[in-house]
Amino acid sequence: MRRSCTSLRAIWTRAARGLLDCIVVDRTLVIIKPDGVERGLVGEILARFERKLLTIELAEMRHLERAVVERHYSEHVGKPFYEPTVEFMTSGPVMVVVLKGPLDTWKIVRSLVGVTNAADAAAGTIRGDFGIVTSRNLVHASDSAESALREIGIFFPHLA
Ligand code: CDP
Ligand code: MG
Repeated sequence: MRRSCTSLRAIWTRAARGLLDCIVVDRTLVIIKPDGVERGLVGEILARFERKLLTIELAEMRHLERAVVERHYSEHVGKPFYEPTVEFMTSGPVMVVVLKGPLDTWKIVRSLVGVTNAADAAAGTIRGDFGIVTSRNLVHASDSAESALREIGIFFPHLA
């Protein structure tokens, strides 16, 4: 009995993935920040995206240079949290990830990630389950289709 349930689930998963292959039209960028990497949450975080049937197209561990982070966060120049954020993002290795999925994949990913302030993020989201403050909110995720394109171009120019 158990066996046939398992295989039914496998068939369904394959079918859903097959369907997704037909409608994959979009990409978005995720960065597992130094706190996520240091806390050993890379596998947990990537698993959540995979369980949602998103595809990991590329995942690279990198120690980011300041100039790259400054470009990435250029919209925040001059804000009080800009300098500490740049410092933090260059403080240790991060996992830079391109996820593929259906139209507006960025929106699906943002809903899995949760709101910026981890203290306010809903339980069940990555920030809600593992974070407690805004400055250590574990994950960056593109916030629009335009941002996704721009950010993928910064980290993986050959994909843009
Ligand atoms: O990451 P998200 O797009 O949700 O938020 P953002 O407004 O684009 O801010 C970028 C990052 O700056 C956040 O993820 C936090 O790491 C940091 N930040 C902060 O430390 N304090 C704030 N008040 C706002 C943002
Ligand atoms: Mg943002």
